[in-house]
Amino acid sequence: MVDKIRSLISINDLSKEEILFLIKLAQDIQKSPQKFVDITKGKILSLLFFEPSTRTYFSFCSAMQRLGGSTLGFSQIESTSVAKGETIEDTARIMASYSDIMAVRHAEVGTLQRIAKVVNIPVISGGEGVDEHPTQTLSDLFTIYKHFNKLNITIAVYNDLKYGRTSHSLILAASKFGADFICIAPNELQMPKEYIEQAEKNGSKIIFADKIDNFVDKIDVLYVTRLQKERLPSHLDYEKLKSQFKVDLHLLSRLKESSIIMHPLPRITEIDIAVDQDPRAKYFEQAANGVAMRMAILKFYLKIN
Ligand code: NCD
Repeated sequence: MVDKIRSLISINDLSKEEILFLIKLAQDIQKSPQKFVDITKGKILSLLFFEPSTRTYFSFCSAMQRLGGSTLGFSQIESTSVAKGETIEDTARIMASYSDIMAVRHAEVGTLQRIAKVVNIPVISGGEGVDEHPTQTLSDLFTIYKHFNKLNITIAVYNDLKYGRTSHSLILAASKFGADFICIAPNELQMPKEYIEQAEKNGSKIIFADKIDNFVDKIDVLYVTRLQKERLPSHLDYEKLKSQFKVDLHLLSRLKESSIIMHPLPRITEIDIAVDQDPRAKYFEQAANGVAMRMAILKFYLKIN
């Protein structure tokens, strides 16, 4: 019997054991990169990015090339037949016939499932609308694990928790490992109920707040997100919201010495650049860790032993 093709669309597509396996594999890849040279030689990753991207797109490219494979794809639909009106399904079918695994980013929730139904290769999400961003979460968990050597810590997710997809996958996954959460956001941008319910079912304690002040001594990871300007409804005032949630040296001076600051990036104004010099600022390392994690993901989904 032929094995069912697995895709990574939600972080829930992976078991707790598989997530841990990928973290350990990414760690091994960083420690002994020479063991993984050319393991995907002859394989092709296609990238179908219907929304702008820097880190996710290029870390996938870098990951595949470091493993000896190659890549093709686009991050501007103007250069594809989608601009002529071709359906997503047809574009995906064609790209699947030119490659062995596919990474897709799209603004509309449900598109990745539609694609997975018509292609016969693994579909890996590079971020889907306001819903999830599982490979970012795997990179985030890898970064947290490298730092704390455990995942049952207290994570404050901070700023736009409604339209930012990275915090959704993070809460779904880290709750499986005993993490607790403080959701700090303007009321209009709090974490949607569906993710909270799942995290609570997984056993997490979750607190909601619209200010960080009472929690500074409880936070292990301050996970800052960007206001998703492109997704904010018009009745919300971007400029006003932008000025409310800022991480600066004053806030830093009140956080625990043992805490770390993370951000999936791009950072706009929500983290002052002066914070970059603090050893607790881990967001650039977090972005760099995305390559080893995506190498682990490609190896796993391409079933390379
Ligand atoms: C994030 C995204 O696209 O969801 N970026 C990323 O992949 N690192 C975060 C964001 O755009 O705010």
